[in-house]
Amino acid sequence: MYKKQSLVIFFLIALVLLSLAFTIEFAGDKLTYIPPSVQRTGDSAKGYNYLITGNYLKSGVPYSYYKLLMPMDKHNYLNREGKNAFVPYDFNVVLSPNKTEVVVPTCLQCHAQVFDGKLYVGLGNTFQDFSNISHANNPVTNIGAKAMHLFSPKQYKAALPLFNSFDAVLSSMQTEVQGVNAADRLAILLVAHRNPQTLEWQKKPILNIPSGVVPTDVPAWWLLKKKNAMFYNGFGRGDFGKFLMLSNILTVKDSSEAREVNSHFGDVLAFIKSINPPKYPKPIDENLATDGKTVFTTNCSKCHGTYGANSTYPNLLIPASIIKTDSLLYLSNQQNPQFIEWFNKSWFAQGDNPARLQPFNGYIAPPLDGVWITAPYLHNGSVPTLETLLNSKERPKYWKRNLKKPVYDYEKVGWTYETPNQPQRRTVYNTSLPGYSNSGHTFGDKLTEPERKAVIEYLKTL
Ligand code: HEC
Ligand code: HEC
Repeated sequence: MYKKQSLVIFFLIALVLLSLAFTIEFAGDKLTYIPPSVQRTGDSAKGYNYLITGNYLKSGVPYSYYKLLMPMDKHNYLNREGKNAFVPYDFNVVLSPNKTEVVVPTCLQCHAQVFDGKLYVGLGNTFQDFSNISHANNPVTNIGAKAMHLFSPKQYKAALPLFNSFDAVLSSMQTEVQGVNAADRLAILLVAHRNPQTLEWQKKPILNIPSGVVPTDVPAWWLLKKKNAMFYNGFGRGDFGKFLMLSNILTVKDSSEAREVNSHFGDVLAFIKSINPPKYPKPIDENLATDGKTVFTTNCSKCHGTYGANSTYPNLLIPASIIKTDSLLYLSNQQNPQFIEWFNKSWFAQGDNPARLQPFNGYIAPPLDGVWITAPYLHNGSVPTLETLLNSKERPKYWKRNLKKPVYDYEKVGWTYETPNQPQRRTVYNTSLPGYSNSGHTFGDKLTEPERKAVIEYLKTL
């Protein structure tokens, strides 16, 4: 009898503790804890090598035409050898299944950026131009228009999957401004043309494709090691490797190719987890940063965690009712029932390492390691500096970077910008457009000016 009672009490206590562990009250609203899921292990050196030389895409522009029509790369930022030394860092020269040498775009198109003369692998590219997709520097559209009719039958076959995909997606993934990313759009457009089981190309789309391109920033790769879910709304659950290899659907032939590519992504995940955030390169006022740490611990750590020795990261989803940043991203793709169903019934959700999508109305509170270098801020890149992120009244409605000669502001922490009176497509970030709003995340507003300065000094140290 006595034993039974204590067992019941034990269970009750456990239940209370468990519910405390999974939700935290914030002004009456619940912050949701994301539990970890099993991940693959791998060899990070192999993963890096695969990323910068591997054939995770196997269809591309024939190298012989690329060489004729595109400027050869002079930097060789990645110190690559052979033909890879002559193409930009975000392309690999690989062998197609029919043994044609092809140039293929890589993850580094979106996940690397040259910053103050140095290439940072894993830093989101904030200069990519989806606002003008017929861009002359795009070898696929450029060479396709000029030379496709000249390809030999073998070259044509090697290039066709890439050209088919680009044909189906390019005209409907234009963003309003240069620097925001259309990868979420690309995902739904490509998925719509793929059989969920065999992954084979379907000429006619099998999903209803919603209108509108949702603009996003690109999260830094070095944050992933702390996160229990992928993507801005944390809807990427289960095996991360399956999401990492998702770009393969741009040109994949069938699920047997996907299986082979998938076998490398434990290594790629190991590489991504090995990346450390770059250190702030200018002097830091240590006393001010110490004051900032105190302000941060009181006002920000609940969501963003603690840093330095014994760091913690709470892995919390913040509901829309609290975060109040632009809603378009979590409402669109990331909530689209057909898209979610396609994925959760697809090849990606099966096998030894299943992944799944779990939508949420709101966003994950990201780790802030290396945040000094990741401007512009928020999931849609709508806020140019940390100073304006922490003082919402100062956020510019229209703002413009010098995209040719961008200058970083190491004090306000972010991009130096002008504030034109008028919006202008492609060059001026217009926060009054759907998806581009700079509202929400007003947690810095209640700080005093000295407190805000101190927090910014502290954020430089992360
Ligand atoms: C066309 C641009 C583009 C390409 C190419 C691309 N990504 Fe991404 N990636 C994005 C964007 C944008 C996001 C954020 C999307 C979101 O959360 O809504 C993202 C998210 C991620 C994340 C999640 C990070 C996090 O913290 O949640 C990882 C990891 C990642 N990509 C890895 C890769 C790898 C590996 C490749 C190549 C095999 C790749 N990506 C190719 C644009 C791209
Ligand atoms: C209630 C939870 C919560 C609190 C409190 C909070 N944040 Fe955030 N923070 C978030 C979420 C969620 C996002 C992502 C929002 C988005 O992108 O739409 C975010 C984004 C950010 C970003 C932008 C990251 C990037 O790379 O774009 C910074 C910087 C930041 N927060 C700093 C702070 C600071 C400093 C404080 C304290 C003054 C603070 N936050 C308080 C939840 C919170």
